[in-house]
Amino acid sequence: MPTLLAIESSCDETAVSIVRGETGRATEVLASEVSSQIELHRVHGGVVPELASRNHSLRLRPLVEQALEHAELKVSDLDAFAATIGPGLASSLLIGSTAAKAMACATGKPFIAINHLEGHLLSPFVGETRVPPHLALIISGGHTLLLNVEGPGRYEKLGGTRDDAAGEAYDKVGKMLGLPYPGGPEIEKTAHEGDPTAFAFPRSMLHDPHDDFSFSGLKTAVLYTLQDLGDPAEVLMDRKKVADLSASFQQAVIEILVGKTLRAARRGGHRLVALSGGVSLNQTLRKAFEAAGSRHGVRIAFAPPALCTDNAAMIAFAGLLRHLSGEVSRLDGDIDPNLRLA
Ligand code: KG4
Ligand code: ZN
Repeated sequence: MPTLLAIESSCDETAVSIVRGETGRATEVLASEVSSQIELHRVHGGVVPELASRNHSLRLRPLVEQALEHAELKVSDLDAFAATIGPGLASSLLIGSTAAKAMACATGKPFIAINHLEGHLLSPFVGETRVPPHLALIISGGHTLLLNVEGPGRYEKLGGTRDDAAGEAYDKVGKMLGLPYPGGPEIEKTAHEGDPTAFAFPRSMLHDPHDDFSFSGLKTAVLYTLQDLGDPAEVLMDRKKVADLSASFQQAVIEILVGKTLRAARRGGHRLVALSGGVSLNQTLRKAFEAAGSRHGVRIAFAPPALCTDNAAMIAFAGLLRHLSGEVSRLDGDIDPNLRLA
């Protein structure tokens, strides 16, 4: 059965995965190694591109060896190599894609270029036998995208963010509230002790007729509220206030995402909505989607937690589907930091 190794290095995670599968069968993940750089970037409050690429090049080779060891395979056992070629940080994308191309060259096997967003989009289906038609919502640190999916490779964009991505809003608000980077999981934790109705933050574009999103007004509303509450240094010492701000912010994000996605699902006659990307790890958001889905007879599919944040198994899965359909990418193809999905 075809076996493929994939590399993901678009941002601050270096990841290598090996998968095996064939058409009509659930793909087997033989190895999925992730080396996170979160600790390295935390002191800077965000990702520093130069640091990220240097660390990708340091960590990649041991990670490839580790993946091969876990899968109990040799490089010569592999049938194809895939890598993320965009969107992402140029210097980071170059490390992973060059390494995958080098392995393809050395072994004479095909190279397959993968769009990071396609990896996220397909991640809820890694353990399934096929990718059925559905509505996909990708909510990550860099993207908020709503797409009509007819099948692998057949994507139609319905809407996206006009400013900040959902995860980016979480991270920026987390920073404002004095929480560690990345803000998403920290806000989720803090929000558990807060009142989601304490502050009436805007639900931007919720009732607009289009499928686009906007989160920067919400972020600014949190900032102004914080300033109105008094000396920010003092307000941030007040655990209850920070929890209320976190919970109210999170409630607004969830209502916007659930409201707009379920409306698009009903309009398009979708019975399945698949969520992916780091923000889809959020348990409060998952519960809100499930509740709204069951009210409207729509099934909500999520990626397994390990496949929500950046990983190479989702890239390997996307690569395997393309390999099985006979696709090969050029070795002289470039990376594209602004690559679009649809
Ligand atoms: O998909 P991902 O790893 O990276 C991108 O491709 O962008 O997503 C990372 C994003 C960050 O913004 C992070 O704050 C957010 O996902 N995130 C969360 C949670 N866990 C991670 N946001 C909300 N709640 C969470 N539990
Ligand atoms: Zn991602």
